Amino acid sequence: MHDKGHVAVIDFGSQYTQLIVRRVRELGFFAMLYALEDFPNIGEPGAIILSGGPRSTSEPDAPDLDFEALKAFNVPVLGVCYGMQLLNLKFGGTIEPSDRREYGPAELFPTSRTGIYEGLSEKSQVWMSHSDTVKVIPACAEILATNQHKTPVSLKWGENFYGIQFHPEVTHSHEGLRILHNFLLTADELMPFKIEDFKREMIEGIREKCGNKQVVCGVSGGVDSTVLAVLLKEAGANVRAIFVDHGLMRKDEGDEVRSNFHRMGVPIETVDCSERFLAALAGESDPEKKRVIIGNLFIDVFWDAVGDAEILAQGTLYPDVIESASNAKSKASKIKTHHNRVDRILELQAQGKVLEPLAELFKDEVRELGHSLGIAPDILNRHPFPGPGLAVRCPGEVTQERLDIIRECDAIFIGKLKEHGWYDKVWQSYACLVPVKTVGVKGDERSYEWAISLRAVVSEDAMTADWVELPYEILRETSHRILNEVKGINRVLYDVSTKPPASIEWE
Ligand code: XMP
Repeated sequence: MHDKGHVAVIDFGSQYTQLIVRRVRELGFFAMLYALEDFPNIGEPGAIILSGGPRSTSEPDAPDLDFEALKAFNVPVLGVCYGMQLLNLKFGGTIEPSDRREYGPAELFPTSRTGIYEGLSEKSQVWMSHSDTVKVIPACAEILATNQHKTPVSLKWGENFYGIQFHPEVTHSHEGLRILHNFLLTADELMPFKIEDFKREMIEGIREKCGNKQVVCGVSGGVDSTVLAVLLKEAGANVRAIFVDHGLMRKDEGDEVRSNFHRMGVPIETVDCSERFLAALAGESDPEKKRVIIGNLFIDVFWDAVGDAEILAQGTLYPDVIESASNAKSKASKIKTHHNRVDRILELQAQGKVLEPLAELFKDEVRELGHSLGIAPDILNRHPFPGPGLAVRCPGEVTQERLDIIRECDAIFIGKLKEHGWYDKVWQSYACLVPVKTVGVKGDERSYEWAISLRAVVSEDAMTADWVELPYEILRETSHRILNEVKGINRVLYDVSTKPPASIEWE
């Protein structure tokens, strides 16, 4: 639907490729990611960015694209890292392969602070992650910038082709966004990215597809499914929101979800099956097996509730779409383990009955959409909560007693973060049971009870995370309340592990 005047980002496999798309959108232009195999079927872009990648252009089967087709678009092209090396080869230059990878900050010196370097500092920090470098520069090329060793790290070939060795999309490249913006301004006309325009188009799309038919969507209280349900309502769809309460929710969460939906005027049906989940999980300690049990039961319960739905709406986001396109093979094999209920989704998909209105948006954009739909900030700014719920915060066997303890401790901790104004400064926070009994003293008696671990992290995309230096006051008050109020806990710990090597959840 948006394949004219957009910025087409061609994926050569770098871990940062998605980030390029996000940054372009942050700069106010619509960008889409394309697999290399899709090239040149990328619509009519207004600019093209060739991403970085882990491979070397000197490998015999190195990723390549049709250069004549690239030129035929007649729009500005920016090659980043691998993309730059590929362009240099295409224009008749050479690359010097290297076994050693340069990874980390470097200094950038633009030769003239004009064009894509307009407004930059004389010296700027950029982020490098490459092994090969350009060697012979063809006659048609101009050096736009060098690094601290006077090696060229940015080139321009002819009128429209630019190359940069570093990654402008990561925050460690201090003026990277400016360079990206300057590049985009060299394009004649680009499609702007405005959430209000998207909202209008999504609503029209929903009306066209749904008419008076009943639309079912699963909701969890999380941001994506809430925005989806409210968007459907806003479009006037005949929506049925189904909330599967698997009993692994936080304290009072089910009631909060229901009251939020009532407040927003979206009908919600709860399927309460906590006992079924607890029974299914009984005696199981293996984290992977726990996940499979929960996942399969969830699908069963949800589809029983869906019945003969005419249309199923899902809160799929753009990163899921990109991921499933690039992992088509591994996804397919995973689906098999999810037994026959998945056939139902595939069947509905084949009949055009699956609606995924958010599939072009990133998480931050979904929040922005939610905001423009009038959804309260406390719902939109909720910390992420995993699908398998407290089961991943209860290492070992999941029992009612353990869940109740986690709920109480978590509510105390989150309450303290909110009270001290720290909830919104933290990306995710929670309490996790450490099911190891140790000795303590309660009154005159020795106690032999479990520990609880508190975790608060900051992260941009959950791929990496750092623990938060919370004020001692919050930790002290939380610990005091937990030790005094929660039966079964005699120790409170604060988790100071980064990801990697730890993960965010304990599982
Ligand atoms: P980890 O523990 O892998 O978590 O560092 C990264 C992020 O993903 C969340 N998470 C999940 N979210 N279903 C979800 O919807 C899941 O099964 C799941 N497992 C982990 C986790 O809370 C963190 O934000």
